[in-house]
Amino acid sequence: MISKLATLSIICLIGSITASHDHVHQHSKKHFLKQANQQQEEENGNAVDPTKGWKEIKLDYYVQKPWNIPLNERYQFKDGVHHFLVYKNDLPHTKTSHTHPRTEMAIEHGWTTGNNQFEGEVFVPKGTSGVNLLQIFGGDSSKGIATSFMMQIFDGTIKHYTNEVIQKNCDDRWIKVNLIHNADSGKIQLFLDGVNVFNSHDNGHDTHSFKCGAYSSINASDKMIVLWRNLKIFVK
Ligand SMILES: *[C@@H]1O[C@H](CO)[C@@H](O)[C@H](O)[C@H]1NC(C)=O
Repeated sequence: MISKLATLSIICLIGSITASHDHVHQHSKKHFLKQANQQQEEENGNAVDPTKGWKEIKLDYYVQKPWNIPLNERYQFKDGVHHFLVYKNDLPHTKTSHTHPRTEMAIEHGWTTGNNQFEGEVFVPKGTSGVNLLQIFGGDSSKGIATSFMMQIFDGTIKHYTNEVIQKNCDDRWIKVNLIHNADSGKIQLFLDGVNVFNSHDNGHDTHSFKCGAYSSINASDKMIVLWRNLKIFVK
C-alpha cells in the first residue's frame, strides 16, 4: 500500500515536472515566435515600393557579347527571363576593346539630369562569382572614370565595386533590385527586396545609362551565369 502510494506520488511528481517544463518550453516558444513575428513585421515594414509616384517608360536595349561569338550562344530571352552567359576566357565585346568579357544589356535611355530608376529581379546561381550584375554608366571622363555605380557579386556577397559589402548570401535566389540615380544631386540609392540597403554618390556629370547582365570582374569564375527578369525603367 505504502509502496503504491510512493509510486503514485513519484508519477505525479514526474508529471508535474514535465508539465512545468512543457509550460516553460511553450512559453519560450511563444516568446520566440512573437519575436520572430515582430522581426518579420519590421522587415516587411521597411520594405517599400521605390517606384511609387514614378512614371514607367519604354524599355529599349541591345546586348553586348564577345565580338567573335553569335549572340544566341551567350544570351537568350526565354519565358520572360533574360539569360546572360559569359566565360572568363571570352574575348571583349569589340575587337579593339581591352575590357573584361561581357554579355551585358545596354539600356537605351540616357540622362544628364533628373531622377531615373532601374527595377528588375536578379538570380545568380551558386558558382558564378566575380561578376558585375548592374551598372550606372557614365562618370567624369576627364578623370578617366567611366561608371558611377557597380553592383557585383563575389561568392554570394553583393558588393559596390569590389570592396564595399552591401549584402551577403545573395546567390541561388531571386532578389528584387531598385536602383535610383538623382543626376541633379548625384545621390544613388539601392534597394534590395524593397529595403534601402545602400546609398552612394555618382562619379561626376555625364550622360548616364543603366547596364545589366554578366560583365566579368576580378576573381571571375570560369563560367558566369546571370538571370534578370521584370526589367523596368522609371523617371520622375
Ligand atoms: C580576390 O582574390 C584575392 C585572392 O584570393 C582576395 O585576396 C581578394 O579579396 C579577392 N577580391 C574579391 C573582391 O573577392
